[in-house]
Amino acid sequence: MKNIMLIGGGVGNAVLFSVGKACLENNSKVLYFAGYKKLNDVFKQTLIEHASSVVVWACEEGLIEASRNQDKFFRGNIVDAIISYQKGRLGDTAISLDVIDKIITIGSDKMMKAVNEARKTVLRPYLKSDHVAISSINSPMQCMMKEICAQCMQRHINTKTGEESFVYSCSNQDQDMEFVDFDFLNERLKQNSLQEKLTAKWIDHVQRY
Ligand code: FES
Repeated sequence: MKNIMLIGGGVGNAVLFSVGKACLENNSKVLYFAGYKKLNDVFKQTLIEHASSVVVWACEEGLIEASRNQDKFFRGNIVDAIISYQKGRLGDTAISLDVIDKIITIGSDKMMKAVNEARKTVLRPYLKSDHVAISSINSPMQCMMKEICAQCMQRHINTKTGEESFVYSCSNQDQDMEFVDFDFLNERLKQNSLQEKLTAKWIDHVQRY
């Protein structure tokens, strides 16, 4: 049995439903931080509850109502929510950070970078020194055929040796957070910015008719 901490940002939470559920079925405990920018971004709250032992709902715009007694809510970003939870500012801490074996995070590159930095600084005194930290790295929906178009390429830096390496994220989505170069990821994701904006405008247009 392991203690797992899931950290999901926005639509990244959709990926964590099944991860949390599988962990619970494996008799693990799941401490789930679900973060959103806007209240309107929150979706499928019940599925998140079914995928967790405890949820901390964090939203920058306002407070998300928690329906279970053990769950907490916080107004602000997800890293501050984790700190506040651990310091007991949100009430009792049923699962403390010092029992966490594995952290799995998925969300924007900025959110995952912030989590990675926090785990090595402000959260370090609370976490086990040998915890495992995984980031689910975004892939553009290009070929998704593993090593063909290379638009999902992710740079890694070995923090111990300084060695540089590259990974095809479409064939290896879950990557060691310690090694991921999040600034590289940010630059790579900008490649799709134009198409994403056009798609959003098109969806907005067709939904009006
Ligand atoms: S998306 Fe084309 S190689 Fe990964």
